[in-house]
Amino acid sequence: MSFPAERPRRLRRSAGLRRLVRETTLSVDDLVMPLFVIPGNSNTEPIAFMPGQFRYSADVIARECEGIHSLGIPAVILFGIPERKDAEGSEAWRADGVVQTAIREIKKAVPDLVVMADVCLCEYTDHGHCGVVEDGRVLNDPTLELLARTSVSLARAGADLIAPSDMMDGRVGRIRRGLDEAGFVETAILSYAVKYASAFYGPFRDAAGSSPSFGDRCGYQMDPANSDEAIREARLDIEEGADIIMVKPALPYLDIVRRVKEAFSVPTAAYCVSGEYSMIKAAAERGWLDERRAVLEALTSIRRAGADFVLTYSAKDVAKWLARNGTNRSAEPDLRGGER
Ligand code: PBG
Repeated sequence: MSFPAERPRRLRRSAGLRRLVRETTLSVDDLVMPLFVIPGNSNTEPIAFMPGQFRYSADVIARECEGIHSLGIPAVILFGIPERKDAEGSEAWRADGVVQTAIREIKKAVPDLVVMADVCLCEYTDHGHCGVVEDGRVLNDPTLELLARTSVSLARAGADLIAPSDMMDGRVGRIRRGLDEAGFVETAILSYAVKYASAFYGPFRDAAGSSPSFGDRCGYQMDPANSDEAIREARLDIEEGADIIMVKPALPYLDIVRRVKEAFSVPTAAYCVSGEYSMIKAAAERGWLDERRAVLEALTSIRRAGADFVLTYSAKDVAKWLARNGTNRSAEPDLRGGER
């Protein structure tokens, strides 16, 4: 008689057995690379709090996107840092704004690459809030008009997906109407449906110069303690016309990714944000953990929680690591770092 009767280790004995019973895969198909656009020509600036990440002018971004496309990554998402900020964020909807220009250059260079355009005013306003401010308050409905106007200008430049990240109520519906009325019925909306007021955006705000000059974003972004509210936000965005919904950040909110995916069964993305990237980078730089294994494990976990794809600053690295396995697809720990 053998004891114990059940021996899960039998299926862990070899790489081949582990491959057969593996439930979750991570592939280059699941990756979106975020990029920051700056004004000018031939400009590349390193981002201090995000080692390995850069801000590029539109011409350089087009070259960068050729590389991203040749690595097999299907999509990029663009964030703009304008020449000039003002109270309304008016650079956001300029036909020759930084992101609009970058989209045109990218579409010329790599027409097959999916281009997502983040829509928010915080990078464009001098006060750093995501909407119109009056008496120290962020006004919801006047902001919707500006978001719709910005979305139309990005669609006109050639964006495949409009990705509102502002967290104003009703913005998906208003943007959908704006796009449809302007004839962009085929331009999709990826909404940051479930976006928490998170400390993990810190390095991004440094990169984009988008920290609020007063107060914080707790009046519009979600309370990290809430989970039912995520269902409500996702439901509203789907009803208003979102084609894809997103949860952000990713790792501290895997329970939310799972709940939202199970509740709605629509394409669901997760954003592994700047702080998640930088904390692994910082620890890896100190030799405290193995970057490749940590990143692959984190992204595999985000997929396991239910995300169909992941926005990650590690997208290029991951594409290279997976390609080196000769498979373009692996969550095999042996291939990740040799641990037995
Ligand atoms: C704009 C926006 C932010 C991020 C994406 N879109 C910053 C914020 O809400 O302050 C964060 C992305 C990241 O941290 O990588 N609203």
